[in-house]
Amino acid sequence: MDASVEKVVKRVDDATLEELRNVDIEDVYVQMDEMLKARPTPLDLYFRWERQNWATQDLDFTEDRQHWTSMEGPFGGIREELQRTFTLFFLGEQAVTDTLSPLVHAAPDEPSRNFLSTQLVDEARHSVFFSRFFEEVVGIEGGITAALERLRDRTVDGYRVLFDNDLVEATEAVREAPHDYKAWVRGIATYHLVIEGMLALTGQRYLLGIVREMGILPGFYAGFTAVARDESRHVNFGVRALMEAGVRDREHLDVVSDQIFKLLPTACRIVAAPDRRFVISPQETPENLRINPFDVRDFSMNSLLKRLKVIGLTETTLNDMRTKAMGYYDEAWADYERIHNEEHPYRYFERMAAAGA
Ligand SMILES: [Fe+2]
Ligand SMILES: [Fe+2]
Repeated sequence: MDASVEKVVKRVDDATLEELRNVDIEDVYVQMDEMLKARPTPLDLYFRWERQNWATQDLDFTEDRQHWTSMEGPFGGIREELQRTFTLFFLGEQAVTDTLSPLVHAAPDEPSRNFLSTQLVDEARHSVFFSRFFEEVVGIEGGITAALERLRDRTVDGYRVLFDNDLVEATEAVREAPHDYKAWVRGIATYHLVIEGMLALTGQRYLLGIVREMGILPGFYAGFTAVARDESRHVNFGVRALMEAGVRDREHLDVVSDQIFKLLPTACRIVAAPDRRFVISPQETPENLRINPFDVRDFSMNSLLKRLKVIGLTETTLNDMRTKAMGYYDEAWADYERIHNEEHPYRYFERMAAAGA
């Protein structure tokens, strides 16, 4: 590892909750990539969890509340965009908290069960983190159950399909047949690779990037960066588990790729969210806060595909997935224009790129 990368990794690994306020999310991704190369075992990841523990109670949201209530004028639109994304995470954390236990129970060996037990605690902590944030900052009161109930329908196209149907189906199958190793492999591919490795990592990156650029919500930033560091362990566990499944029998890799092909249209649709009209156009958005849909698309796909590559899927399969995903994004962007009868922001970035070339 080169010395500057080593420094970044150490800084991310050892940061206290307080220090995470100053850690750039991009550095968390550098650390994650290094872990992907190192292929940590479940026991390594378990020990990391012991060292990287944190408490939602240590976060102070006083300043966040002031920032949030004073976001008006042009920043009102950004606030609305942020709140929509917070909501997807809050609901997502609850959904993964509620569906992980069958995967813990059916884990094929003791170290994996130990690690997954820590992940269960993490996911509960992430749910509690968001419920505190919604209550104290966003102002949705009444506790976690009432808040989730109020927010339930504020998702995007495909979201309920993936979380209520696909995720529940995959984990229920494990509950019903805990000795069916293929069902467990399918569950991990759904949970750790698609939901965490593709969707959560993508959402986190842009959300934290914007909050950092704006210099707001310090409590949220520290807490959500801690969440991102937790996710780094989770995703790396999934990669290692599926890699080992492939070593046991190459047939298991077909189980993984079949499941990814099945979920890919929905997952791409959730990232592209064609039903969600952007509150403010890229032209109206300050330059440092603009999100380029091509970047988001490519980041989400690379995030998934580089992990599937480590797991052992063939180049042909990965290329096929990439081509299909490109098609799903194009379809979603075309749908955006049909639904809202206005151009999708990708066209703005396309024009900018053409002008710059
Ligand atoms: Fe989580
Ligand atoms: Fe997670």
